[in-house]
Amino acid sequence: MKVKFDDVSYVYQIGTPFEYEALHHIDTHFEDGRYYAIIGQTGSGKSTLIQQFNGLLKPTYGAVELDNLKITAKSKDKVIRPYRQKIGIVFQFPESQLFEDSVEREVLFGPKNFKMDLEKVKEYAYRLLMELGFERDIMEKSPFQMSGGQMRKIAIVSILAMDPDVIILDEPTAGLDPQSRDQVMALFKQLQEEQGKTIVLVTHDMNDVAQYAENVKVMQKGTLVFEGTPRALFGNHQRVKEYHLDLPDIVQLQYDFEQKHDIKLPETALSDEEFIKLYKEWQAHEK
Ligand SMILES: Nc1ncnc2c1ncn2[C@@H]1O[C@H](COP(=O)(O)OP(=O)(O)O)[C@@H](O)[C@H]1O
Ligand SMILES: [Mg+2]
Repeated sequence: MKVKFDDVSYVYQIGTPFEYEALHHIDTHFEDGRYYAIIGQTGSGKSTLIQQFNGLLKPTYGAVELDNLKITAKSKDKVIRPYRQKIGIVFQFPESQLFEDSVEREVLFGPKNFKMDLEKVKEYAYRLLMELGFERDIMEKSPFQMSGGQMRKIAIVSILAMDPDVIILDEPTAGLDPQSRDQVMALFKQLQEEQGKTIVLVTHDMNDVAQYAENVKVMQKGTLVFEGTPRALFGNHQRVKEYHLDLPDIVQLQYDFEQKHDIKLPETALSDEEFIKLYKEWQAHEK
């Protein structure tokens, strides 16, 4: 499903002394099956932006266009609700919203509401849980006997179980142990590559942006200030500094190397392999 933001502004607590414009004339779109990252400082509007995707927050001005639906300030919840199966949002610290006393009931809760085929859902959810390294008796377990990392993974699967076309992840790995991090990040990439899901990842981790995203959108004070490839973004240090962003480790390494030798390599590497290739080319050229 393609998602288009058409001049979207959003004002919190409009008409009160606490009125605050968190989104300012956002024009952008999200193509089917691509992997997006949304980055920007805390308070820049990322979480507000993603809640516009399925009408949890409706634009104060402008519209969000889904397949056959245009969400505006006037849209009725009843009309938007069916789209919440197609657009899954994993909020920050989603484990805090677990409430069922078995994993099975937890993952079936959403699909039941949307009247999905629960046998199929169960099979799919089970497969996802296996990908994330759980034991085979996981369905009968209670989420509340688990570690924080395991609870996070259950909460993520309970959204993925609805088989949404668009998967939105608000800092899904914040505070996760390294192994769980790798498992969930690999799963999201796999869902994009093998099932054509659209991924929208909100993150502070620039290494993840470099490794996974095809397109990155940078928010600053409610405005979208950059859209393009990670390579285009991180290759421009001036711009990265201006946006108060960090560099991915590999880009920082290349930058330090260039400073040290007073050179500029012809491209910005986003992985170790790419850097080694550039380095070897440079070395051959030096000889
Ligand atoms: N319920 C609210 N009422 C008023 N202002 C809010 C509310 N929620 C968020 N904000 C403000 O909107 C801005 C954007 O917040 P948010 O979208 O959460 O940013 P981010 O996710 O990038 O950290 C912040 O300045 C925040 O203080
Ligand atoms: Mg946020």
